[in-house]
Amino acid sequence: METLPAPYAAAHAASLADAATFWAAQARQIHWFRLPEETLSTDENGFYRWFRGGRLNTCFLALDYHLEQGRGAQTALIYDSPVTGTKARYTYAELLDLTARFAGGLHDLGVLPGDRVIIYMPNVPEAVVAMLACARLGAVHSVVFGGFAAPELALRIDDAQPRVIIAASGGLELDKVIAYKPLLDAAIELAVSKPAHTVICQRPFVQAAMVPGRDVDYRELLKAPPADCVPVEATDPLYILYTSGTTGKPKGVVRDNGGHAVALRYSLGAVYGLQPGDTIFTASDIGWAVGHSYIVYGPLISGCTTVLFEGKPVRTPDAGTFWRVAAEYGAQVIFTAPTAIRAIKKEDPAGRLVKDYNLGRLRQLFLAGERCDPATYTWATEALGVPVIDHWWQTESGWPMLATLVGLAQMPPPRAGSAGHAVPGYDVQILDEAGRPVAAGITGLVAVKLPLPPGCLPTLWQDDERFRRGYLDAFPGYYLSGDGGYRDADGYFFIMGRVDDVINVAGHRLSTGEMEELLAAHPAVAECAVLGIACPLRGQRPIGLVVLKNGSAVGEAELEQELVSLIRAQIGAVASFRNALIVKRLPKTRSGKILRKTLRQLADGEEFAPPSTIDDPLILDEIRERLAVRGVGLAFEK
Ligand code: COA
Ligand code: AMP
Repeated sequence: METLPAPYAAAHAASLADAATFWAAQARQIHWFRLPEETLSTDENGFYRWFRGGRLNTCFLALDYHLEQGRGAQTALIYDSPVTGTKARYTYAELLDLTARFAGGLHDLGVLPGDRVIIYMPNVPEAVVAMLACARLGAVHSVVFGGFAAPELALRIDDAQPRVIIAASGGLELDKVIAYKPLLDAAIELAVSKPAHTVICQRPFVQAAMVPGRDVDYRELLKAPPADCVPVEATDPLYILYTSGTTGKPKGVVRDNGGHAVALRYSLGAVYGLQPGDTIFTASDIGWAVGHSYIVYGPLISGCTTVLFEGKPVRTPDAGTFWRVAAEYGAQVIFTAPTAIRAIKKEDPAGRLVKDYNLGRLRQLFLAGERCDPATYTWATEALGVPVIDHWWQTESGWPMLATLVGLAQMPPPRAGSAGHAVPGYDVQILDEAGRPVAAGITGLVAVKLPLPPGCLPTLWQDDERFRRGYLDAFPGYYLSGDGGYRDADGYFFIMGRVDDVINVAGHRLSTGEMEELLAAHPAVAECAVLGIACPLRGQRPIGLVVLKNGSAVGEAELEQELVSLIRAQIGAVASFRNALIVKRLPKTRSGKILRKTLRQLADGEEFAPPSTIDDPLILDEIRERLAVRGVGLAFEK
């Protein structure tokens, strides 16, 4: 007998009224080797922990369990790579076989439960196998996005101290080959902590040179006898995923095994309305939280079919590629970032390419990573003819905090510009600077009342203090998200952007503080500000305003080129840092704080009143003129 979906309001209220009872019921949807002793508890730091005492294995839930349930012959993973011209399907049985053997190979390299393993690979099945194999052994993986340069990888190596690094020989950015191995070798050279081994997945279009004794071929590991699942504690870490904070040191978001599995299993049904056997096409990268949760773990734990796409939304070969993939595999759900839709809209403004495909099975398009602007929302809704659902989350949460939950009944429909309503488990509040809830329509800081539900970060990797300082200390009893926004009179939330130095460039989360640290180290630069200005395609893009040291005679074009190369080499091409302007001075408050928000408003052409605390209002006129001369910023682009 089919059970009717629960009404949204009742589910949300129940999850807040008695979180432990609500999540204990959800925990019964997954298989435990030993049931949890306590659903919700606190640890020695006073941080909340879910499902203490429970034992499970995330790889077992994602693979072995489905064979036990008779799903071995169902397709688990579809790999579609227009950039290499490859398509492949893996059943649950095939994916388990590969994963168990690869886990055996890792075990032979000495990988033990709790050891860290870094994975530096693009969207290829071998990367998914590597993630699951780590989970199988109780090892902690940390996937590093392929677009990051060697110094970023080195930072992560030193923080995670992996025993093994698994990398691809390279990736393809359209027809441009990105050789990963030289980046990996350079990162290992830079890092203090050295891995015992690196495992290299050779791709046909770029052959990596191997370091004898250290480097092992990926295929060699598959020759090992299969390894069994190692039961781990619910509170043991499954992975670390680094994300940008406000400084140069990335934050290692920890995800535990138990809470993660329960939350993802719940979300597949409640948020995305997916049942075992359904297909989801998440066009993201496994290097991001979206890729972890909704390419890999969520769909597999839930017995769905997941599509792993290696390519771009456009030029692979055209702007119809997402629709082709969704139609070919009968996806019920597409999930991507608004920036990808803007890229498609730019190339196919009338949405003609949608009509070339039969999207009869598509039920919704989900968007996240940045706010979906109303124009993109309207275009996608009209082009696809299905609900477009903007939903809000962060690497820290690992699953949506605000959404229109299509798996629950009586859910208010999506509204342009809004990320919807609080997902069960999240008590989302808008607070003023003093931590008091504000009235409807008033913009404030977006916070979540503790405890956060299962799946959210319990802490930062080996840095409880930074976790406390960065998220919990501002308002006792709340998790501070770093976003600003408001709630309208009907209860819809609108997330309007970061209130800190984090920016979102084409769905990639980056730190302007980190870029400032790098620019400031240039010998000609006395001081600088990096701003995230509005970009019609990428949402935001960083620009630098630099003040030269006295006596420095460098020209703007020369300096700009050097600074652009610096950011590319130190952070990576994904930063899309393309403009650095020399200015005489930076506007500051009388206490010396650079007025970054005012500068951003100036570049974006927003109306603003110069803050009364500004030390010298004339500086703004000078900077306006510089932006106009260079044609930088929405207000001045020609
Ligand atoms: N490895 C190496 N380099 C990468 C890379 C990767 N994985 N991803 C991007 N880059 C490079 C690009 O080649 C480009 O280099 P270039 O400056 O030499 O041309 C640079 O980084 C900027 O990349 P991007 O911002 O992706 O620009 P683009 O023009 O290639 O594509 C979009 C624009 C909008 C199509 C693309 O950014 C996109 O699909 N974004 C969606 C992101 C997403 O899904 N995020 C997940 C959150 S849900
Ligand atoms: P990341 O940790 O990379 O997923 O980035 C998280 C940040 O992206 C959030 O703090 C927001 O600033 C932004 N973000 C993600 N989804 C949305 C959304 N639906 N609406 C507005 N901002 C979003």
